[in-house]
Amino acid sequence: MNLKVLITEEEIKQRLKALGKEISEDFNGETVIAVCILKGAFMFTADLIREMKTEVTVEFMRIKSYDGMTKRQDKLLYDIENEIKGKNVLIIDDILDTGGSLKFATTELKKREPAKIKTCVLLEKEREKDFKADFVGFKIPDKFVVGYGLDVNELYRDLPYIAVVEND
Ligand code: IMP
Ligand code: MG
Repeated sequence: MNLKVLITEEEIKQRLKALGKEISEDFNGETVIAVCILKGAFMFTADLIREMKTEVTVEFMRIKSYDGMTKRQDKLLYDIENEIKGKNVLIIDDILDTGGSLKFATTELKKREPAKIKTCVLLEKEREKDFKADFVGFKIPDKFVVGYGLDVNELYRDLPYIAVVEND
């Protein structure tokens, strides 16, 4: 497998500074519950919350998606631990591909009546999808990428940059 760097560590760092500021302003400096979608968003979440200027608490959620015979199914594998009713929530995911998992997570958390709910992804693939994130780090071509939390068969999550996987 061949890895070609798409977004460098420095580019991620710079973008996160701006993103953290933008998000903090959007929440008017109020306390935010950051909901990290495992596993892919763990590194992004850790770095992003350090760039946020508001008070932040962290929760984790895990969603399992699989394609059945006719349609995709999403399931909640691990839920957040604390109540979000009346609070500000920021859902953080690694990548927006079809949009299925973020749509599922948002629908699920909205039922619990947060005061405000926003979504943030590090990457957004340029393709047709059924969900729009409020904050996007980088728009990328519709290719399979790894690194900075994203994996292929659980590998490469540790890379400090984003790379395109090229089979040869
Ligand atoms: P969606 O629900 O189709 O938007 O898919 C989002 C999830 O699929 C992400 O949270 C990732 O875990 C995974 N995924 C989608 N595209 C990629 C990729 O290019 N590399 C690694 N994981 C991906
Ligand atoms: Mg994921």
